[in-house]
Amino acid sequence: MAVPKLLHPYAVPAREDFITLVKGEGAVVTDSNGKDYIDGLASLWYVQVGHGCQPIVEAVTNQMRKLATFHTFEKFANEPSEALAARIVEVSPYDDARVFLGNSGSEAVDTAMKLARASQVRAGHPERSIIVSRDRGYHGVNYGGMSAQGIAVNKEGFGPLLPEVIQVPADDIEGMATLFANSGDKIAAVITEPVQGAGGVWPPPDGYLEGLRRLCDQHGAYLIFDEVICGFGRMGTWFAAEHFGVTPDMITFAKGVSSGYQPVSGVVLSRKVLDPLEADPTFMLRHGYTYSGHPAATAGALANLEVLADGLIDRAPKVGARLSEGLRSLASDGTIADVRGAGAVWAAQLNDGQDSFAVRDAMLELGVAVRPIGTALAFCPPLVITDEQIDTCVDVLAAAVNAQS
Ligand SMILES: Cc1ncc(COP(=O)(O)O)c(C=O)c1O
Repeated sequence: MAVPKLLHPYAVPAREDFITLVKGEGAVVTDSNGKDYIDGLASLWYVQVGHGCQPIVEAVTNQMRKLATFHTFEKFANEPSEALAARIVEVSPYDDARVFLGNSGSEAVDTAMKLARASQVRAGHPERSIIVSRDRGYHGVNYGGMSAQGIAVNKEGFGPLLPEVIQVPADDIEGMATLFANSGDKIAAVITEPVQGAGGVWPPPDGYLEGLRRLCDQHGAYLIFDEVICGFGRMGTWFAAEHFGVTPDMITFAKGVSSGYQPVSGVVLSRKVLDPLEADPTFMLRHGYTYSGHPAATAGALANLEVLADGLIDRAPKVGARLSEGLRSLASDGTIADVRGAGAVWAAQLNDGQDSFAVRDAMLELGVAVRPIGTALAFCPPLVITDEQIDTCVDVLAAAVNAQS
């Protein structure tokens, strides 16, 4: 078989065997041989509304017919991107905020890192340049977000990383307090996922996010929540900040904001970050992407938010409860070692000696698509998944594990 021309992300470049998908409906996708798979990870943690959602298709098509594309640099705006920003502020934890738009989670993270440093500089603190993140964190693949990642293998072999971006042990608030005690006057921001996703699905320890909030407040650093996975319904709330009762100074988002129907991402900036940026009317924010605020993309995201508001966000805890109950029953009979998660994102920790890639492959054979993360398997289904489909995911995991042992 010839190696295809498409070079795949996060894949062995010499790989030759691929599953070519041709259609999707609800929580099911179908490959070119007509085989169906339950989408147990909402594609890559993002198709909240499921596949084939026609209101989004229509909103994008209608916008394409009116104004397919135009930039938002400097003086230009368009209706869908303004409306999307307003709607995001409305559902955010802030009374007053603004939204910077991009296309991917990696762009959102790099934007937030740059805005944190820029805002500190404008506030008279150019010495505050350190960005702190946590082991196990995933913040995308651009040089900023890659430098902030706490997954070592993803950072190897790409040359020098961004200076003054440092990681601390994932759950150690005392260690973080020591870092602040020693270097707090040089820290621009702390960035963390409220629930660490790609690093293994790790909810925060009790009091951890509150501890971060306190340290940042005491020392004048910004707190950034990377809600690329957690935002837009995954925790049963618009943002995980609301679910955990901790309000950061900036929130990065992507994925669920458009359910991936269009590439949309962004950063919500609170007043604390905005005020220094807005104080000098001659200051120019020299940052932006050609497709920031793309009208067809933002029209799709707006339609997605309507679908989410219409009962889907409320369904997330029910999806999470049924899924986690099923996984726990497998843990209690020893099929898997452990279960962890929050909202509608969960991980099944496999027993020693079980290979997560082999179990994933066996699950694919049986018609369920999930993702191996280290020695665990991640489940993060579309919020439209039915109870029966959730049960099938759990049964197929059990069958796949048993087939390996
Ligand atoms: C928390 C988090 N931040 C950033 C990213 C990067 O997003 P993207 O792949 O859209 O660049 C991801 C992707 O999974 C993510 O989970």
